[in-house]
Amino acid sequence: MKISLIAAVSADGKIAERADQSSMDWTSKEDKQFFIEKTKEVGTLVMGRKTFATINKGLKGRRIIVLTRDPSKELPIPGVEFTSEEPAVLVWRLEGEGVAELVLGGGASVYGQFLNAGLVTEVYLTVEPFLFGGGVTLAQGFDRVALRLESVKQLNSQTILLHYIV
Ligand SMILES: NC(=O)c1ccc[n+]([C@@H]2O[C@H](COP(=O)([O-])OP(=O)(O)OC[C@H]3O[C@@H](n4cnc5c(N)ncnc54)[C@H](OP(=O)(O)O)[C@@H]3O)[C@@H](O)[C@H]2O)c1
Repeated sequence: MKISLIAAVSADGKIAERADQSSMDWTSKEDKQFFIEKTKEVGTLVMGRKTFATINKGLKGRRIIVLTRDPSKELPIPGVEFTSEEPAVLVWRLEGEGVAELVLGGGASVYGQFLNAGLVTEVYLTVEPFLFGGGVTLAQGFDRVALRLESVKQLNSQTILLHYIV
């Protein structure tokens, strides 16, 4: 399974200033466009419940799978599935359904678990021109992961998109 971790990061490696902050607050329109294009191309998007709470709706043309420990307390939303499966179990099930690729949309806890389980195959980081000083680190809780830089794309005069292969 091809699993692409996609994140916007500040120049000091943070994905948010606060846990309840939406990335929409500080990312460029070019990064938002990249996110839309990539997730539409791949079709399946996995994220944690806290990240989903910053969106709180389905996204046209995409299947969203939200990790939560208690799926039964979530109200149904078209195009959104809630699951308590561990990452490896979820990936195994999706492979059985014929899903060949998915985007990992965060947040930090979900990125960390998928990296720790060795499931991430590609990393896309959009570096935005901010230093947050504090905030939510991209991911934690895994051993060193070596990356190979595949491409660097300038999205606008201030923003770059790094594409790594794990
Ligand atoms: N800059 C970016 O590109 C980007 C991208 C994504 C997110 N973010 C930011 O990241 C922050 C959120 O990150 P976060 O780490 O705090 O939260 P998160 O990963 O989005 O969500 C954590 C929640 O997901 C559920 N979960 C995680 N792993 C699970 C598992 N194995 N089984 C079942 N449920 C599981 C739990 O939900 P329950 O509590 O319901 O059990 C957990 O509380 C926000 O500020 C958001 O804006 C930034």
